[in-house]
Amino acid sequence: MTPEERGTICRFIAHLARAGLAASLYALRHPQTVKQIDAAHALLQETLPGNGEVNLMRIEADLFLEGRPLPRDQYLERFVRSLKEHRISQVTIGRDVEPAELESLVRMIARKTGGKVESSGHLRFSTEEVEIEATPVAEEEPPIRSFTDIPERMMTQLVDTFDACTKHEPLDLSSIVAVVSGFIAAFRKEANPFLALVPLRQMDEYTFTHSIDVCVLNLAQGVSLGFEGQLLHDIGIAAMLHDIGKLFVPKEVLQKPGELDDAEWAFMRQHTVKGAEYLLNNPGIPRLAVLSAYEHHMRFDLSGYPKPPAGWQLNLASQITMVSDCFDAMRTRRVYKDVVDFGRVAGRMLEISGTMLNPSLTLNFINLLKKMGEQL
Ligand SMILES: [Fe+2]
Ligand SMILES: [Fe+2]
Repeated sequence: MTPEERGTICRFIAHLARAGLAASLYALRHPQTVKQIDAAHALLQETLPGNGEVNLMRIEADLFLEGRPLPRDQYLERFVRSLKEHRISQVTIGRDVEPAELESLVRMIARKTGGKVESSGHLRFSTEEVEIEATPVAEEEPPIRSFTDIPERMMTQLVDTFDACTKHEPLDLSSIVAVVSGFIAAFRKEANPFLALVPLRQMDEYTFTHSIDVCVLNLAQGVSLGFEGQLLHDIGIAAMLHDIGKLFVPKEVLQKPGELDDAEWAFMRQHTVKGAEYLLNNPGIPRLAVLSAYEHHMRFDLSGYPKPPAGWQLNLASQITMVSDCFDAMRTRRVYKDVVDFGRVAGRMLEISGTMLNPSLTLNFINLLKKMGEQL
């Protein structure tokens, strides 16, 4: 979408917000309200190509169009606030939307919905799920002390889950929850998380094995920081899902041994937005997982991607995931031949703490590595 087209979508939202204001002051059929709805409708028809649609994604107080936040103004903020009140995480509006369908958005802004909105032919809502219920922890799950400790049945389910994601099928979280619980059960009993990392010779399915590694490392950090219960679980699940968007990147790009060209990089960078979008569309996914998928390449100094608006506050789970992600990438290197030793990795991580990585989390991680590394 061009900057002009993005500007038009902002004006479309402004008309809706004004219509919402008019509807709350007067009535839904008041000429002021109708005029604003008609203006919004006309703008969409002008901007979008035949059977095109606009997809708006909400993450907390920001609204994203094609992975980039729209500039905030009073109208956008009002619109986002009403989405939040209705727990809506995405709105997809088709070019052929009827003014009568836009009215439901206006009613939502005017707080005249009784808290409920429903999708219609050209207007679809995705709602964010209530936090997942506390998952049964540890007791029934056998502790998983290493990658090879993962029972075959569990491993098959996990592989099936990742396969289903590749096909954009609904995500069944149960195998991921089971593996996370198994790791937590082991690490609580003093198992060494660094021994649980996937052996390098088994790194062929990189996104899958890398996700397991990042999970192990996130849990190791979480335990060392004193996290427990649901939060610790969610940090593990967030790690398992942080790169899920890579499953939507063409294999030729993902597994290309040489340097990526500009177009390939653009594809690769989309894995954050695509992953977050996919997770938002699935029920029961912890918010921390959506945020980590979206933010894990933003870097501590926000110089990464996707580019956040000024003043963006990175979630702690995303920053923990960045540390684990970075360590695992250095440990394995993309071509898996030249393995760097832990000491050198720690040195390199210190160099990039404060720019790429959160300095306190980096120090904590290196201490953990030193302590556990002695036992390897
Ligand atoms: Fe990533
Ligand atoms: Fe990653």
